[in-house]
Amino acid sequence: MPHKFDPINKHLLVSADRQMQLDTHRVLSLIPILRYHAVADVGCGPGYFTLPLAKYLFDGRVHALDIQQEMLDAVRKELERARLTNVETTLTEENRLPLEDDSLDGAFLAFSIHEADDPRNMLAEAGRCLRPDGWLALLEWHKRETDGGPPVEDRIDEADLREMAVEAGFRPTNRHSLNDDQYMLVMRR
Ligand SMILES: C[S@@+](CC[C@H](N)C(=O)[O-])C[C@H]1O[C@@H](n2cnc3c(N)ncnc32)[C@H](O)[C@@H]1O
Repeated sequence: MPHKFDPINKHLLVSADRQMQLDTHRVLSLIPILRYHAVADVGCGPGYFTLPLAKYLFDGRVHALDIQQEMLDAVRKELERARLTNVETTLTEENRLPLEDDSLDGAFLAFSIHEADDPRNMLAEAGRCLRPDGWLALLEWHKRETDGGPPVEDRIDEADLREMAVEAGFRPTNRHSLNDDQYMLVMRR
């Protein structure tokens, strides 16, 4: 089974160094998000993307989901500090998203699908919760040795992830190199 990110290191996920490596504004500019969308941040961690998503979605909502309560506690603290009120934080189960069918415009999965016990099931769950033509963004590490990042054996190769998503019923629309080590696939249900 892949490793789960240890919450003891959660400060690394919201560090200034990370902003240099992976600019959240640039990521948001590459996805088909609109200000009124309902978006799930699946595996939100301490909220590196949750806060920018919430600021962008000033007429919409974010469902911040994680299987580790400590991550959700950290996001909640940051949301209160930023006085953002359009985010619901929910502890989720490994294999089931706590959302209704067809209830989302977008599903945002940043560096979480490689931690899932069953990535295919996570894609199927995202598909179930998205409305027809809803968007999916999958951000991941390339499957090779890099400075930092998860163990190579846990990572999912870009072509394999694309194929899994197509098998789950998604239609690829775009792919992006986020930096030397990380990629993003954008799809439609
Ligand atoms: C590497 S962290 C990334 C956090 C955040 N998306 C970011 O980019 O900073 C991966 C997160 O996914 C969560 N996670 C792992 N498996 C999950 C699952 N099956 N469902 C929801 N969250 C999961 C972990 O608890 C962890 O907080």
